[in-house]
Amino acid sequence: MSEAKRQAALSALRYVEDDMIVGVGTGSTVAYFIDGLAEWKDRIKGAVSSSEQSTERMRGHGIEVLELNATGGLSLYVDGADECDGQGHLIKGGGAALTREKIIAEASDTFVCIIDASKEVDVLGKFPLPVEVIPMARSLVARQIVSLTGGQPVWREGVVTDNGNWILDIHNLRISDPVAVEARLNQIPGVVSVGLFARRKADVVIVGDRAPRKVEA
Ligand code: 5RP
Repeated sequence: MSEAKRQAALSALRYVEDDMIVGVGTGSTVAYFIDGLAEWKDRIKGAVSSSEQSTERMRGHGIEVLELNATGGLSLYVDGADECDGQGHLIKGGGAALTREKIIAEASDTFVCIIDASKEVDVLGKFPLPVEVIPMARSLVARQIVSLTGGQPVWREGVVTDNGNWILDIHNLRISDPVAVEARLNQIPGVVSVGLFARRKADVVIVGDRAPRKVEA
């Protein structure tokens, strides 16, 4: 339980409007958002979910969960993060839901990121960077990560993503150019997605009970 996560999540409800289809992320902060969104369930058209975990929670509240292929673009996406820098670049994927989160963020006009103050950093990389990989490519990708970044990839053994893939967490990175690192890692064959949300970063960041901060494009 975190009061700051709950406050950020409830504050994000101000971006929800009648008849919207809301993109919904994954994690403990988003769980508070979903609980608050339940009060809107008869006023919104539904939600697009980034994970089985969030789908289950939303369905438990009677919120209709829709397929992104059927909805088209969304106006709003709300999600948490593992780290957030001053420009709204994020590390995400601590909950292994990064690929679907990335897809929904890309499909949405406004990405509202909800965090507590412990997630704020000057430079990304203290939190190990999650990378979703095709299982047969795990060791190939790991070797290339070492030579490209100098970071240490660690297999999150036992974790299988909702897409049937595996996760490598890259330790000991100092990501001073998040857009470049994201692009470089995306080039490795076998990488499904990288938990750096840099090219498509947050548009608004809400930290605990602080007022929402619009991030410069
Ligand atoms: C899941 C995520 C989460 O947003 C991130 O891990 C933050 O989680 P929490 O809100 O539980 O601190 O990226 O893949």
